[in-house]
Amino acid sequence: MSPILSAQAVRRSFGQVEVLTGVDLEVCAGEFVTLAGPSGSGKSALFAVLSGFDSADSGEVLLLGERMSAHPAWQDCAVLPQVMGLADELTVAENVALPLRLRGEEPTARVQELLDELGIGALGDRYPTELSFGQRQRAALARALAPRPRLLLADEPTAHLDHATVPVVLGLLKRAADEGTAVLVATHDNEVHEAAHRRLRLVEGRVRAA
Ligand SMILES: Nc1ncnc2c1ncn2[C@@H]1O[C@H](COP(=O)(O)OP(=O)(O)OP(=O)(O)O)[C@@H](O)[C@H]1O
Ligand SMILES: [Mg+2]
Repeated sequence: MSPILSAQAVRRSFGQVEVLTGVDLEVCAGEFVTLAGPSGSGKSALFAVLSGFDSADSGEVLLLGERMSAHPAWQDCAVLPQVMGLADELTVAENVALPLRLRGEEPTARVQELLDELGIGALGDRYPTELSFGQRQRAALARALAPRPRLLLADEPTAHLDHATVPVVLGLLKRAADEGTAVLVATHDNEVHEAAHRRLRLVEGRVRAA
């Protein structure tokens, strides 16, 4: 099976420090893969390159066999950044509907269904700054899942959640994979790693099997 996401020999330095020293990585459709690694090891830096927010100094990142620049925003790749990145001037429901609107689609019942499943169904008319961090994280996950992306990159999606909510988020990530999305999750959470099909680890700037 050809991979949805493929990275080859990706390098990225900040000043004198080479954070990514040659990352090779593949994620296929329907796979739920986790990425571990100590704080500061470069997981978020790697996700920025994989999602096209940042450019590698060298190496190649391909989404569906093409460079990321060939894919319009939210068309094939959805991102849940560690800092969540919700638009503060839009309501929660408008944020979740945004990737659909960017594709020229009208928001569907899926927007409210995702908010309901994540336990924030009553908060759709609020603005992100009126939510707790855990509520914002769930809103950002709903936004990432709304367009049924081919690739989902989720950076620490359970970092702000209480213990009871983690299985809900895990269930949605697994369902996305079952429906064919390639899911890559950076996390420190053992519960998330245990749920994965495959576990990776970022060590000295390279990705290895965990
Ligand atoms: N834009 C930047 N400019 C300078 N240094 C950066 C930049 N982005 C990341 N770094 C550095 O790269 C290293 C990796 O950071 P990164 O945020 O990717 O770590 P991480 O593995 O995601 O950590 P955490 O688990 O805490 O989220 C750190 O040393 C950080 O200071
Ligand atoms: Mg990080």
